[in-house]
Amino acid sequence: MSMTHTALAPFADRQAGFNHLRALAGRPGGRLITPLFAADPGRADRFTAHFDDLSLDFSKSSIDDAALAALFALTETAGLDRFRQRLFAGQPVNETEHRAAMHMALRAPEDAGLKAVMPGGGTDDAAAMAGDERAKMRRFVVAVHDGRIRGFTGQIFTDVLTIGIGGSDLGPRVATEALTIGRSDAKMTAHFLSNVDGHAFLEATRGLDPARTLVLVASKTFTTLETSMNAAAARAWVVAALGQQAVAAHFVALSTNLKAVAAFGMNPDRVFAFQDWVGGRYSLWSPVGLVIPLAVGWEKFQQMLDGAWSMDCHFRDAALHANLPVLLALAGIWNTNALGCATQCILAYDDRLRRLPAHLQQLEMESNGKHVMLSGEQTGWDTCPILFGEPGTNAQHSFMQLVHQGTRPVPVDFILAANAGHDRPDAHRALAANAFAQAEALMCGRSEVDIRADMAAHGVSQSEIDAIAPHRVAVGERPSNTIMFNRLDPFSVGRLIALYEHKVAVQGCLWGIDSFDQWGVELGKQLASGILPELTPKAEKAPSSEKASSSENTPASENNRHDSSTTGLIQRFLSLRGES
Ligand code: F6P
Repeated sequence: MSMTHTALAPFADRQAGFNHLRALAGRPGGRLITPLFAADPGRADRFTAHFDDLSLDFSKSSIDDAALAALFALTETAGLDRFRQRLFAGQPVNETEHRAAMHMALRAPEDAGLKAVMPGGGTDDAAAMAGDERAKMRRFVVAVHDGRIRGFTGQIFTDVLTIGIGGSDLGPRVATEALTIGRSDAKMTAHFLSNVDGHAFLEATRGLDPARTLVLVASKTFTTLETSMNAAAARAWVVAALGQQAVAAHFVALSTNLKAVAAFGMNPDRVFAFQDWVGGRYSLWSPVGLVIPLAVGWEKFQQMLDGAWSMDCHFRDAALHANLPVLLALAGIWNTNALGCATQCILAYDDRLRRLPAHLQQLEMESNGKHVMLSGEQTGWDTCPILFGEPGTNAQHSFMQLVHQGTRPVPVDFILAANAGHDRPDAHRALAANAFAQAEALMCGRSEVDIRADMAAHGVSQSEIDAIAPHRVAVGERPSNTIMFNRLDPFSVGRLIALYEHKVAVQGCLWGIDSFDQWGVELGKQLASGILPELTPKAEKAPSSEKASSSENTPASENNRHDSSTTGLIQRFLSLRGES
């Protein structure tokens, strides 16, 4: 099938755009922020965008009018407007997989008319299909909560164990936690199992009663090793407690691969499907996110979808200069491509969003961690920065030292709600004060002159001042965005996650890459499946895997030629286990 990137901007035009950004940052003072505030009392207003109660303040950056114009010029060069239209028209913007990226249909009203163009021709009425599946999910969720659907022994389901990894874990987990932490009104207790590490299984099932536990197996492909092994372990756990016949009552599958689901022996009534035009890291809105309404109730899940859809409409319809995902993306492009920053820190001043950095790591780094353009050329510019983060204020007492005084600037996104979901206003004010102070400190820093004067005023000796003052200097001029909204509720959670989803798409468009594939993860998976038989004693090998991995009398390690380091590690692993 031919690629459809013919409308891509020529490489040279894009390259010129990125070069221009670098040149602007290279002007005298081009990386400084504080002079921009000194020169323009209206800067904070001019560089803050609003969408209802949600605001994005990107004024604490060295983007001035010339830089902003250059960034918008790049959106034209890259054809962002046309990309946006193609995305919402369900065109195959995921060109290397010949698919649309139509996750917006999962949160759109059924009659929104969102379609997805299918690889072999034809078109899915994506919004209608998603609406049908949503109705089925809703019926199921309500029946579980009402007690009409119960466990095999007739007990009400009180707990839900979700098994999935990557996009089949992180999105549902961040949303569930955001809406349940600090609350006592959860409908069911949610547990998550992602890693194939057996300790994770022990931890996830500790204290759980199989008779009252509903198990969701979430996997788009239903072929992911970790999820298959954990699902098998969970099945054995249920069977050991309740017998083989209990499996149908306790297991639910969430997948696009209905054949593999059937092979696992799932009850067809307990299968919730979605389509290939939903990427894994965008699947929390699909049946993969079933744990969310099970934990918080259908109404809140719907509000979360509504919040995401409001952001979809804003992204689709708002002019680029007033478009929050676009502006957030451009602020990031400036940091990455003009300033050369290699990292992006995410600090949500909200413990309920403690897994947000993990979700955004997948969303951004799996989407835009690429160096080959849709045209097949190598990018001549940097793409996705390395994301990391922790909740504020915890981060301030761990890695923020480096962000303030390290050798390289680390752009930060501060995220916070003005109103808390608890009744300790003092605590929330302290949280917010810290967020604002961190952003201010990063930008303004503290000069040596100031520090020396302060130390002298406190009676510190001159020799002590000379020795210590340089260590206390914070150079400032370090960029950050602040994203603020009224309160963290289902609607704003949906809107916030969708904001970042569209930011990622915009950046991918500007960088000229396919944000919706993830070929880079395949090699490691393939090699692991080759190494696994080498670590498995003969007695434990299934006949088929043994056949696939090695011939009758040849040790597996001879069939799999590794580098000497890998061979040595395998041998030492086996020897430490007494299995060599
Ligand atoms: O290995 C990466 C990946 O394919 C992600 O893109 C995906 O979210 C995750 O694995 C899980 O995949 P699945 O939902 O098919 O089990």
